Amino acid sequence: MYVHVPLILFLLANAAPPTDASLIARGSESLARAATRAHRHIFKRGAGLARDIRLSVRGILANDAQQPAAIGSARVYCVNQPSPGLLPNNGTATSPANPVGTATSPPSPSASASSSSSPWKLLQTYQGTSFFDDWNFTTGADLTHGFVTYVDENTAKSASLIDVNSAGNAVMRVETTPQVAGTRQSVRVQTVRTYTGALIVMDSVHIPTGCGTWPAFWSDGPNWPAGGEIDIVEGVNDYTNNQATLHTNPGCSMSSSSPSTLGISGTLVGGTDCAAADTGNAGCGIRASQTNSFGAAFNNNGGGVYIMKWDNTGITVWFFPRNSIPADITANAPQPSTWGTPMANFPASSCNPSNFFSDHQAIFDITLCGDWAGAVWGTAGVPGQDQSCAQITGVAQCQDYVLNHGANFTEAYWEVKYVQIYDQPS
Ligand SMILES: *[C@@H]1O[C@H](CO)[C@@H](O)[C@H](O)[C@H]1NC(C)=O
Ligand SMILES: *[C@@H]1O[C@H](CO)[C@@H](O)[C@H](O)[C@H]1NC(C)=O
Ligand SMILES: *[C@@H]1O[C@H](CO)[C@@H](O)[C@H](O)[C@H]1NC(C)=O
Repeated sequence: MYVHVPLILFLLANAAPPTDASLIARGSESLARAATRAHRHIFKRGAGLARDIRLSVRGILANDAQQPAAIGSARVYCVNQPSPGLLPNNGTATSPANPVGTATSPPSPSASASSSSSPWKLLQTYQGTSFFDDWNFTTGADLTHGFVTYVDENTAKSASLIDVNSAGNAVMRVETTPQVAGTRQSVRVQTVRTYTGALIVMDSVHIPTGCGTWPAFWSDGPNWPAGGEIDIVEGVNDYTNNQATLHTNPGCSMSSSSPSTLGISGTLVGGTDCAAADTGNAGCGIRASQTNSFGAAFNNNGGGVYIMKWDNTGITVWFFPRNSIPADITANAPQPSTWGTPMANFPASSCNPSNFFSDHQAIFDITLCGDWAGAVWGTAGVPGQDQSCAQITGVAQCQDYVLNHGANFTEAYWEVKYVQIYDQPS
């Protein structure tokens, strides 16, 4: 979530030595288009960024598709995250619209869950009328360049951007005023509590969705990327498949690019290196195979539960749709060993969490456009999106859509039943 970036670097870092020249060529073409768009977009905003982007655009556009290494030295900022259609995990092109459709069936709920049988101890529940009590509202601009202004709690309340609804669920939404100048008001909250190692449960019935949106439920530590970043729920626009991503200091990687070796139902979005510095900040991401794990499909299914476990075995993310939430979770006695194949797993063998993650705070936010949603505005063929947002909305620019079509952002809200933080007594 922090700083999303360069497909390019990423492609180069992971495609070298290139095994398939035509893939590189296709990639470079798309990348050049994306970078040109990003450039136009960024250019209006900041001279510093524009310089970085100019550098990268020059590198890309000058690049002959037959000589992919030529763009290796170009740094790109504010280009989209690797798109799954562009960058498969083993160097072969995948078809663009590729919801994998191999969701692992969740295990049968454990009938006899009891708190005494769980290795995890509940520290805190955020729920109902007191949901917002122990979150801090971050105010101001979005560091990932979205067209939002994050507002404080009182402003959010009086503008009806936050609420606890009649179902007792916490709601966080963006401003839907038809036209705004510059930015829309939005919400970013982070837990007052910090934790090093945890099991986090987040039960949501609605994730913000629609062209222009970029919501996330994630966490990070101090001095990014030294304290590490864990993106648990994240996606953009009309995507329907979640992405979980780590961003770290150098030295953390995924032990394999093979989903079966990792023991996951998802697939790698790019390479195995999680270091921000090595990947142009992109980190290492895993896209869920479940086509109802994000966006409208998640919402239409009543949502579900995300769980992130961070212990000395690594970092693991599970997703359970509404109708298959294990009973031990609802009984507040989580038993991860009974949950079956996770969507994402980052084993400690190649990324010891104690070296790369510390003092995290969990965060909800919603931004609009920005480094990811804005950069892929013209991109089609991602799970959930056969058409690009430019085609879907008939509006050429993400910024124009966000600033002038407030009525189209009524689905841009989180509705959260609860968040729980557990720790593991040593
Ligand atoms: C890797 O590429 C081959 C084609 O060369 C393909 O058949 C296979 O499914 C790919 N494996 C994965 C895990 O994507
Ligand atoms: C939360 O906000 C308060 C004041 O607004 C600040 O003093 C405190 O340090 C913040 N806590 C965290 C954990 O960010
Ligand atoms: C945006 O809102 C308008 C007016 O309600 C509607 O006609 C249009 O279909 C919406 N576009 C999208 C992409 O939802």
